[in-house]
Amino acid sequence: MLRPLFAVAVTAASLAAQQFEPQPPAFAFLQQPPRGLPPMPAPVGYTPTAAMCELGKDLFHDGVLSKDRSVSCASCHPATTGFAHPDPKPPGIGGQKAARHAPALWNRGYGQLQRWDGSTPTLEQFVLEPIGDPKEMGHDVDGAVARLNAEEPWRAKFTAAFGGPASPKALQQALATFVRGIVAGDAPYDRFLAGDPSVMTPQQRHGQWIFESKGGCWKCHTPPLFTDEEFHATGVGAVDGEPEAGHAAVTADEADRGKWKTPTLRAVRLSAPYMHDGSQRSLDEVVEFYARGGNKSRNLDSRLKPLDLSAEDKAALVAFLKSL
Ligand code: HEC
Ligand code: HEC
Repeated sequence: MLRPLFAVAVTAASLAAQQFEPQPPAFAFLQQPPRGLPPMPAPVGYTPTAAMCELGKDLFHDGVLSKDRSVSCASCHPATTGFAHPDPKPPGIGGQKAARHAPALWNRGYGQLQRWDGSTPTLEQFVLEPIGDPKEMGHDVDGAVARLNAEEPWRAKFTAAFGGPASPKALQQALATFVRGIVAGDAPYDRFLAGDPSVMTPQQRHGQWIFESKGGCWKCHTPPLFTDEEFHATGVGAVDGEPEAGHAAVTADEADRGKWKTPTLRAVRLSAPYMHDGSQRSLDEVVEFYARGGNKSRNLDSRLKPLDLSAEDKAALVAFLKSL
């Protein structure tokens, strides 16, 4: 079953609210990203097409990939909450909880490494992993491919997009192409930079100043994507100063313990709760977290220090985040 992607379209009223309202995912963004974003790197080994994107969209929203057909990609990544899940740990097959928070999927076509700990290199490789995860879709890729080849309209859809039957490779390319079309740009922030001063409030501009000066946020959440795609320890999830493995699970280097990938802040107002464990419920909580210098943790990034922020500064920073 296909559900509409967005209940609310970009309207004059939403722009007047000076908050970010996303555009629905579109294949066109692979060629021409919205204002403010750089050209998107092309995937290796194939050329994405509009037909692959259409098929990927149908697959993303259908339970067919999960063992008992109860779970789709969209059940953990609903568009209405920025393609993130409103629970700290989203429910997968049989109501089991996924290991981590389901992140927003904006601008992943620019990403270098997938997952919070960076353990999967490409989007193509990643998109098959939820299918085999026993807590997420509880299936296996070969079983899913056999099902797609045994059923109409899937067979016809694969033939239309790939000129042949479903295969693990075709499944990867279709899903990855749809995910590449999930893009957030042309926000009030971008319109402001493009020369329209009316789109950001004075409060949001004050928040931008804090982001770029004493807040130091830009050092990791680097514009225009608002992520450096690097790994840093902020102390989220640390217990008595002892962090989880994080990126050390990939590098086997103790210096990477507690480091997680910097998430984008694009469209961040939609995707509460925040962080790899979903432990921060709101942007106000996140700003309080940074104001106190993050959580006590081994390997804590030296860029995090208690910040001298007034109540007005904190409210302005939150207002700025909503303009991205
Ligand atoms: C049961 C919930 C669940 C389902 C179903 C699910 N995901 Fe996810 N998704 C997650 C979680 C949790 C993570 C974070 C995993 C991690 O970091 O280890 C994630 C991560 C991702 C990422 C990486 C984002 C990043 O910033 O690195 C992408 C892309 C993604 N999912 C796409 C998909 C696609 C495509 C499907 C369907 C084939 C899917 N997901 C199905 C919960 C889910
Ligand atoms: C040292 C690098 C670094 C700095 C500086 C930094 N962040 Fe972060 N930020 C991260 C990392 C890494 C995460 C993910 C942590 C996790 O999930 O464990 C994160 C997560 C977030 C999130 C949650 C996003 C989501 O989708 O879950 C927000 C919001 C955020 N940061 C805002 C800010 C603001 C505002 C500032 C400045 C006051 C700031 N950050 C400074 C690295 C940084």
